[in-house]
Amino acid sequence: MFDLPSLERALADTVYASKLTFLPVTGSTNSDAMAAAREGAPHGSVIFADEQTAGRGRGDHAWHSAAGQGLYVSVILRLPLPAAQLPWLPLAGGLAAAEAVRAASGLAVDLRWPNDLLLGPRKTGGILAEAQTDSGTLSFAVMGIGINVHQRSFDPNLATPGSSLDLESGRVIDRQQLLIALLESLEREGRALLQPGAGSAIAARLERASTWIRGREVEVHGPQGCAGVTEGLDPRGFLKVRTAEGLVHVQTGGIRAAAGTVPRY
Ligand code: BTN
Repeated sequence: MFDLPSLERALADTVYASKLTFLPVTGSTNSDAMAAAREGAPHGSVIFADEQTAGRGRGDHAWHSAAGQGLYVSVILRLPLPAAQLPWLPLAGGLAAAEAVRAASGLAVDLRWPNDLLLGPRKTGGILAEAQTDSGTLSFAVMGIGINVHQRSFDPNLATPGSSLDLESGRVIDRQQLLIALLESLEREGRALLQPGAGSAIAARLERASTWIRGREVEVHGPQGCAGVTEGLDPRGFLKVRTAEGLVHVQTGGIRAAAGTVPRY
């Protein structure tokens, strides 16, 4: 369980001070945070839960959120960003989550564009960034982050096999330390997003933090379904995939390793 007074103390000098809401159980922290943002909740408001009964992933997938097992957290961001910058949000969230996992467990996350946190071939977390825009500018965004921490077994039918930080590290990872590290990293990423050239800086960091961004044979799932080899990100944050028909700039959807390819771990 979380120690809320100590969490408040650890985050006293951050944008999250006095803006933490802990729910022992809720449907979805992202749905809660979207509703709170519509009601005017300020930048840096955090909603996190011990259990979600209707946790949501991208593409209408459910996010299994058993009590006491994972980190289920959503952060409201009110950043003066043009709507065209939105594709960078989940990527910045992924970088923040990868840094937090490294700090709390020593494990090196591989970021699979656009929102998956992998440890080797197994998925251990994901990002669900949702936003509301007004006249081409971001009104608010909710950065939802789910990380498997203590789970010991996973549905064998998942599209990507699942794992948890405990299973991968061989020890019990402290959810509270992970949450503090995550929120601190996210605050840094939020500031970085406001800098000129933020997109190219994120792209450069992803090239180092991900085995998927360049030179990987992938299948693209979603409206632009195709297959080819990744060639980095374009200036909008879209994934470039070289196919037999030419270069595709993938805007939405997801990627999987092409059947029969040998992963580089
Ligand atoms: C994905 O991999 O598809 C994204 C998963 C995001 C899950 C998190 S858990 C906290 C927040 N609340 C939700 O309902 N979803 C996100």
